[in-house]
Amino acid sequence: MLELASHILDIAENSVRAGASLIEIDIDEDTANDSLSIEIIDNGRGMKQEEMEKVLDPFYTTKTVRRFGLGIPLLADAARRAGGHFKLESQEGKGTTVKATFGLSHMDRQPMGNIISTLIVLIAGNSDVDFFLKHRHNDRRSELDTRIIRKEIEDVPINHPEILKYIRGVLEEGFSEIKPEA
Ligand SMILES: Nc1ncnc2c1ncn2[C@@H]1O[C@H](COP(=O)(O)OP(=O)(O)OP(=O)(O)O)[C@@H](O)[C@H]1O
Ligand SMILES: [Mg+2]
Repeated sequence: MLELASHILDIAENSVRAGASLIEIDIDEDTANDSLSIEIIDNGRGMKQEEMEKVLDPFYTTKTVRRFGLGIPLLADAARRAGGHFKLESQEGKGTTVKATFGLSHMDRQPMGNIISTLIVLIAGNSDVDFFLKHRHNDRRSELDTRIIRKEIEDVPINHPEILKYIRGVLEEGFSEIKPEA
């Protein structure tokens, strides 16, 4: 994976597979601290301690075949290579939080990629899951909460083309990648 948006898609898809009904995605860009953080919080089934250890170390196996996925280790590696760190927290039956930080201006920090299309794909493709999206760029904050949208649209499905168009507009306003100053 070469873009942060692809990592976000993978981690959020893990949450969907874990049966989450609510997935929060926080993207935080802080120029003063030269940091970019991405946090994904779900209320899915969570993991046992031993499962978490295996997930973080996918190559630890007595067999030669890979038994575990790579989504989480790849994000952890991307964070470390960009002067950041990675944290996985999970409680069985409660949910999971994945947090990755990066040096915002670090040479090896992967670009954000198409975050807006990624978020739309998540919302449109998982219409029974709620998403709470938060973006901060220094003093500028934006949010999108599908629970609130759902209340307003009543019986119209969240993935109705007109609703997705509205969501795209909100995301373009508040979630577009902030280009580094020239
Ligand atoms: N949010 C989550 N809640 C519960 N279990 C999770 C969560 N995220 C990951 N897991 C568990 O950790 C495993 C590894 O996740 P990871 O993303 O690294 O790989 P994967 O999804 O199995 O495969 P890949 O991402 O390579 O297609 C998952 O298969 C799942 O069992
Ligand atoms: Mg995965």
